[in-house]
Amino acid sequence: MTKLTKMKLMYRLMLSFFTIIVILMVILSISFIKVTNQSMYQDTWRQLRQDADSLVEDSIRYDPVDHSFAGFMTPALKADARLLSHQDVHFAIYGKNQEQLFASNGFTPTITAAKWAKLEKGETVYVKMTTPRLSKQVAATNMPRMTEIIRPYRNKNKLVAVVAIATFVSPIERNMHQIKLNLVVALLFAGLMTLLVSYFFSRSITVRIKRLRELTHQVARGNYDVRLRILGNDEIGDLGRSFNQMTASLQSSHDEIHSQEERRRQFMANAAHEMRTPLTTINGILEGLQYDVIPEEDKQHSIELMQNETKRLIRLVNDNLNYEKIRTNQISMERKLFDAAAVLHNLKEQLGKKARAQGDQLELTVPDGLLVYADYDRFVQIMFNIIQNAIQFTENGVIKISGQQRSHGTQFVVQDNGIGMTPEQLDNIWERYYKADKSRMNTKYGESGLGLAIVHQLVQLHSGKITVTSAPGKGSTFTIFFPNSQTALHPHQSAD
Ligand SMILES: Nc1ncnc2c1ncn2[C@@H]1O[C@H](COP(=O)(O)OP(=O)(O)OP(=O)(O)O)[C@@H](O)[C@H]1O
Ligand SMILES: [Mg+2]
Repeated sequence: MTKLTKMKLMYRLMLSFFTIIVILMVILSISFIKVTNQSMYQDTWRQLRQDADSLVEDSIRYDPVDHSFAGFMTPALKADARLLSHQDVHFAIYGKNQEQLFASNGFTPTITAAKWAKLEKGETVYVKMTTPRLSKQVAATNMPRMTEIIRPYRNKNKLVAVVAIATFVSPIERNMHQIKLNLVVALLFAGLMTLLVSYFFSRSITVRIKRLRELTHQVARGNYDVRLRILGNDEIGDLGRSFNQMTASLQSSHDEIHSQEERRRQFMANAAHEMRTPLTTINGILEGLQYDVIPEEDKQHSIELMQNETKRLIRLVNDNLNYEKIRTNQISMERKLFDAAAVLHNLKEQLGKKARAQGDQLELTVPDGLLVYADYDRFVQIMFNIIQNAIQFTENGVIKISGQQRSHGTQFVVQDNGIGMTPEQLDNIWERYYKADKSRMNTKYGESGLGLAIVHQLVQLHSGKITVTSAPGKGSTFTIFFPNSQTALHPHQSAD
């Protein structure tokens, strides 16, 4: 058994087909030979019976008075003997006392006592093969192989004569030999055909299994995109369908893991970007305090600013850095009306140092108490990013920040006269990690090309609108619109 399981499936299948067919053929052949052999003897015996009957009919003599049996006419017997010996049939006739009355060509069968007993009962005796005595002229050998029947004849219920009649078995044997030969040829041919058919049949099965195995290897290597072409509704077809289901579900869970990972990465990058702003501000003030460059009367305000930023950081950590929100890609938003002018004044102060370092002048024009309907922290984030960009990309210039109330909301404009952007650059600035000038990698301010992508997403979350116009060397103008609460609830209404 273990040896068998080591054998390739294909050869095992072939072997079983082959064995079954060959056994079947052998059984069929054997029974065919038996039946044919039997019927050949039956035919011969029937012929011999007829010969014996007509022989007796031709030559029997009856008493003219009482019509009882009176013997045989020898000339008639001789004539029949001649005729029959042409057909290789020989006979002998015995009287009721076992005495031989006539023998053609010296044909002398052996009639045993048991046979006589049967004959006396009126039964015909059939002998498949015997070697009787026969004259040399008609027997090919000393021991002629013959088949014979011995038949009793009765008259008035009494046994009067017995005819033994026989013919050679060689024609039967020749026929049987030819039949056997034909059968062997047929068997060989059938065996060959079985081998051929079973080869293709087994191959059709193993080829499908092999294909499945190849695809399984691909899946093992991490390629979940493979699908099996299903052929047939058999067990292998079912296996193929299950395989396809498996790869499909592997694919989808793989995709899910991938997109989760992507989302997590984005979120972490966004969070880091967001945390940089307050940390930079706090760090700036701490440095100012350390080197005692902040005038005494401003210290209180600076500390408040620091506190503000610290609170913003805490809110950020509490609200957003939780796993569930990252997983489901949520951003917590709490919109309310608040004083945007105050925020812009704070931002101007926070970014003042950076602007001075670039030789830029910050000009803020905003009506006192200008209200905006937005999430406070997100609004700070949006405006901080836009103004910071304007400073970053402007040297020794002027940055004008303004805010205005509009019919459906509040609009802010940040205008600089810095390096500006080409139309091609303008097309791409909202994309994550896009930087017009790749060589600019200001690690101090952590420029990563993320700022505008985040701003864009946040403005959309507010149902707002952000547009930009720019010309290289002339400067850029960013316009941001926040809808008021009514419009924000019905975002399809056109913004100002
Ligand atoms: N005011 C501007 N003037 C000229 N170019 C600008 C201006 N604002 C943005 N850009 C261009 O758009 C790009 C994308 O800006 P974004 O704020 O997304 O990234 P960043 O400022 O380079 O890095 P990060 O903001 O992530 O620190 C910038 O690299 C710059 O090339
Ligand atoms: Mg930026």
